[in-house]
Amino acid sequence: MRHLDLDLNVQFADRSIAGLATIHFDRAGGDELILDTRDLTIHAVENAVSFEVGPAHPIFGAPLHIRLGGDGPLRVRYSTSPGASGLQWLEPAQTAGKRHPFLYTQSQAIHARSWIPCQDTPGVRVTYTARVTTPAGLRAVMSAAVQPDGSFRLDHPVPSYLIALAAGDLACREIGPRTAVYAEPSMLDAAAHEFEDTEAMIAAVEDLYGPYRWGRYDLLVLPPSFPFGGMENPLLTFATPTVIAGDKSLVSLVAHELAHSWSGNLVTNATWSDFWLNEGFTVYVERRVLEKVYGRERADMEAVLGRRQLEQEMSRLPESDRVLYIDLAGRDPDDGVTLVPYEKGALLLRTIEKAVGRERFDVFLRRYFDHFAFKSIETAEFVEFLGRELPNPVPLDEWIHQPGIPAGAAEPSSAILDHPRERALWTTHEWLHFLRSLRAPDLPALDAEFHLTQSANAEILAQWLQMAVAGSYEPAYARLEEFLCSVGRRKFLKPLYTELLKTPEGRERAKRIYTKARPGYHPIAQASLDGLIGL
Ligand code: BES
Ligand code: ZN
Repeated sequence: MRHLDLDLNVQFADRSIAGLATIHFDRAGGDELILDTRDLTIHAVENAVSFEVGPAHPIFGAPLHIRLGGDGPLRVRYSTSPGASGLQWLEPAQTAGKRHPFLYTQSQAIHARSWIPCQDTPGVRVTYTARVTTPAGLRAVMSAAVQPDGSFRLDHPVPSYLIALAAGDLACREIGPRTAVYAEPSMLDAAAHEFEDTEAMIAAVEDLYGPYRWGRYDLLVLPPSFPFGGMENPLLTFATPTVIAGDKSLVSLVAHELAHSWSGNLVTNATWSDFWLNEGFTVYVERRVLEKVYGRERADMEAVLGRRQLEQEMSRLPESDRVLYIDLAGRDPDDGVTLVPYEKGALLLRTIEKAVGRERFDVFLRRYFDHFAFKSIETAEFVEFLGRELPNPVPLDEWIHQPGIPAGAAEPSSAILDHPRERALWTTHEWLHFLRSLRAPDLPALDAEFHLTQSANAEILAQWLQMAVAGSYEPAYARLEEFLCSVGRRKFLKPLYTELLKTPEGRERAKRIYTKARPGYHPIAQASLDGLIGL
């Protein structure tokens, strides 16, 4: 596959996209092309001899076998199913404005196949164009440049997991020379204010690693059911509204998704086993950006919090998932999404940085992004390139293939977290650090003094609610239920439900709340929680 031309008709009434995908590809020999699909109805494949949809695999979906005839692109006419794993169709009630429906896609890791028939692997890259029809009054946006006629176009080749679409009652405001925020009208002011440092962040990465190559960098604020914090769709980061804290304390998410414009979107993991090449590099770059824009302390605090969370997560994971290059044979790549590729990956890069010095490491990273620009690479290619540029800085094989953290790893530390300041000065990071270090917390006393149940900061609230469940602190249960029924971010839901499931009463509560909340969750969140809660 080389280029995709999409014609998409978004039909809210039957929760379906009717699509025509025109697929341009290199005919390397052979007379069959196999595309990935999941729950797609294929109406016709034009310019082919014949086609057949094979049996559906529970994780990978169904292969679309196409027998090729003459030359020229294929045209696949199809429609998506209402339960498509990569789409969330929201009722007006699930939006901020309550008046219009909303649709958005989430293609990573292997959900593009549920709304576009394609070679759904990060090892294959395409350019794309698209025309999108939506009901009157709803604006469509995509991970591509908007053309004067309202169509979309992305001239840089990207893997299928970066193709994205959203449609809803969206307003737009410019917040920088190449940046606008899209959000529902009632969210626009808050979002524009929260994200006003975005241009400074872009300039910071450019200064470190070379030009931003994608043209515009816009942000889209999604409704609260968005299952992730953020998603680095090219030219248009998707973000959860839960990062809008009012004080920019959670904007590391923007630094993170922006960093993917280099690590991930420019240089891409070729397989999901190489996911740490995307996320580990991105967390490293994210913290370098935070350091440049907000100072060393901010970056240090994030690194310490990340290091602690990694330790916790690893203690729960099987050894085989504590390595950077993970074995995903027969598994859903979403299972490989743990803190290990993020935090262990970033720690590896920090350790190399420490070994060779920041100056040399900056040169190395810049050369890495240039050398592999617009390519998908495997871990072994990184290892080889590093070996050529900076021979033997650390025991790489141990980092990549052995569980746990190798001896000699960099030790992040933060002066502020090591020597707590007076409470009145505390930022979100200091609060999180404090809450996470309490062993047998006196919950009523904490709540009386700091009003944590009323916290408007989603990170602090989620942390507090988890402690409240663990300690059976009943006064927080109403807030817990409200949170679980309004927020769909998987990172918050999983630990909260997991904590509830630890006791018989909690299990009953979990089931009752989940039954009520489930219809509002994204299919990806539903799938992981169905397994957890056993409904
Ligand atoms: N690309 C990821 C999100 C993702 C990973 C979606 C794997 C599906 C499969 C994104 O860049 C990310 O890492 N988001 C984080 C936020 C970030 C600040 C660590 C998230 O959603 O929590
Ligand atoms: Zn990421």
